[in-house]
Amino acid sequence: MMQEKVAGPETATELVTTKAELRSRRAAMEGTVAAVLTMGSLHDGHLALVARARELADHVILTDFVNPLQFGPGEDYEAYPRDLEADLALVDGLVDLVFAPSVREMYPVLPPTVSLSAGRAGTILEGAARPGHFDGVVTVVAKLLHLTEPHLSVFGRKDAQQLAIIQRLVADLDLPVRIEPIEIEREVTGLARSSRNAYLSAAGREQALALSRTLAEAIGAAPSVSGIRGALARAVDRGEIDWAYALALDPATLEEITSDHRGEVLVALAGRVEGTRLLDAAVTVATAP
Ligand code: PAF
Repeated sequence: MMQEKVAGPETATELVTTKAELRSRRAAMEGTVAAVLTMGSLHDGHLALVARARELADHVILTDFVNPLQFGPGEDYEAYPRDLEADLALVDGLVDLVFAPSVREMYPVLPPTVSLSAGRAGTILEGAARPGHFDGVVTVVAKLLHLTEPHLSVFGRKDAQQLAIIQRLVADLDLPVRIEPIEIEREVTGLARSSRNAYLSAAGREQALALSRTLAEAIGAAPSVSGIRGALARAVDRGEIDWAYALALDPATLEEITSDHRGEVLVALAGRVEGTRLLDAAVTVATAP
């Protein structure tokens, strides 16, 4: 077991923008290194990832890169918020290094000639609405893990499909890194924290509680597979929000579980409130049909 750490970096946070600088700073780091991969626009959720990374490793590298490969045509790549100065101010003194490369630095050829596929897991659930998104995610995550060479990398559980696919990436390609899932940050009401919550009115935030309520009902019905599935089906029937899906999945394959499933179950929820797509998720264990 890796020892938990409490101390932060001893020096001020340094910004590097090239792979060569990153490699040379990384080579000078002694002890364990954690990577926090982000697309910038840092908020409390990212700070929770940084805090966990600091507990687990001697050094923390935060990457800040809006990855064009994971945006489809018509998605908000150009409009995606970018504010490197604000990001640096937020994590100053909390991480050793911020790696914020240009698109040309990351992808001298765009699209790259060789890239990765997330397979079928990348085409279902969120991937059904965003073709190619998870292929772009696994390609950039593999590159960033190669470049930062961390012992571990922390990811939030809210993007449950992304987490599951990154765990597959690491297992399938034998990447020498441990993926550390971080619990979802919640508001006192139970609503999962997300930058998208800012788009909701007071009534919308109230309506959005259907997600965390449904999650609690499904988790409360464990360890029975039919109990979990029944709770999800009833929530969809109630139609409190515009459900995209409310599913009990095998976390390894992201396929729906059947009554003979035993072991971990990923309860994954997605739905629209006031036009905003919201996610929530939790892992439980099934030991009975
Ligand atoms: O979750 C994100 O912010 C992005 O998908 C990631 C993992 C940083 C890859 O660009």
